Amino acid sequence: MVEMETAELETDLSLFKYDNLEQLPARYRDLGNAERTDRIEAALEELGDDVVILGHNYQRREIVEHADFVGDSYGLSKRAAETDAEYVIFGGVTFMAESADIITDDDQTVILPSMEASCPMAGMAEALQVDAAWAEITEATPEADIIPITYMNSYADLKAFCASQGGLVCTSSNAHEAFEYAFDKGDKVLFLPDKHLGENTAYRLGMEDEIAEWDPWDPDGKDAADVVENDVILWDGYCQVHERFREEHVDRVREANPGAKVIVHPECRREVVEAADEAGSTATIRETIAEADPGDTWAIGTEIHLTEHLQRWYPDVNVVPLCGDACMDCNAMRQIDPNYLTWVLEELVEGRERNVVEVAPEEKELAGLALDRMLEI
Ligand code: 13P
Ligand code: SF4
Repeated sequence: MVEMETAELETDLSLFKYDNLEQLPARYRDLGNAERTDRIEAALEELGDDVVILGHNYQRREIVEHADFVGDSYGLSKRAAETDAEYVIFGGVTFMAESADIITDDDQTVILPSMEASCPMAGMAEALQVDAAWAEITEATPEADIIPITYMNSYADLKAFCASQGGLVCTSSNAHEAFEYAFDKGDKVLFLPDKHLGENTAYRLGMEDEIAEWDPWDPDGKDAADVVENDVILWDGYCQVHERFREEHVDRVREANPGAKVIVHPECRREVVEAADEAGSTATIRETIAEADPGDTWAIGTEIHLTEHLQRWYPDVNVVPLCGDACMDCNAMRQIDPNYLTWVLEELVEGRERNVVEVAPEEKELAGLALDRMLEI
């Protein structure tokens, strides 16, 4: 088991990376829909090309309706890299805004409307923890080259750590390519933090017999010497929104909707992905529904806001949530309240920058290298 006392720095290992240092002023708390929309539009008009709004597919309707681009984590990173707007307003969670800050030029500013939008899964692999665990596994197999891959859903310090060890970042749309890159360079992969995406990717590559799941702090779990017997070592992180889906939901939705097809996100459990017809990133889910024939039924196993957007965007397709009312919204994504969007935009009009996300310079270069390696695969 890893001895955390040996770590040189202290951390509270909080699941939340940023404190909500900026409180929404009281006058913004009770804005009505119509007034808010007018004010957002007026601010955007005033700011013109200085501002671009990027929105993840899980954002609320009031955010995606104002976004210049809506997409998955990979698409949003590409857009962040391409834009020359002075301000990138990020409708997403902190790790996405951090990545945008890393990818954009130094004279561009990334703003996250609410600093409370922290993905719990990203908090499940703190760089300090990983560093300590890394020492254990590299010591247990000194001859082997282990390549760390971190899912985009992680903080900049972990991305930097992965780059420093020859590794890279991946998203749900290129995890298999990241594995191929890693096995080209080394002998084993440490995949962080999402065990389900890691397991689903290993299956896709025919490596199902090579998987070891690892929680270095579980006194009853495997130790480092055991896990390095395998080529794919999975950190014990997960997304609670996606873990909720079960194989029975797939059976039940098919019973209730004869002929229905099922598509799920690869953060779902292995059994669910296996039972579904398709699995893919949020952009793949959207493309699949966009290409469906009118009258087709698709059950969606992912965050509920995206399912609701799909119902609105593609009314000719019968889009149903995979587990009905039990489907969850992502609490972190929901923190991006449109009142916060109004506030940060109006503050910009007044020349004040609020909720700026800035990655520490010492992490920026290496984390950027890990992201560049992903954008190149
Ligand atoms: P995508 O990269 O597929 O958009 O997924 C991001 C995410 O957080 C899923 O929970
Ligand atoms: Fe994180 Fe899950 Fe929310 Fe995605 S859906 S941002 S993995 S908590």
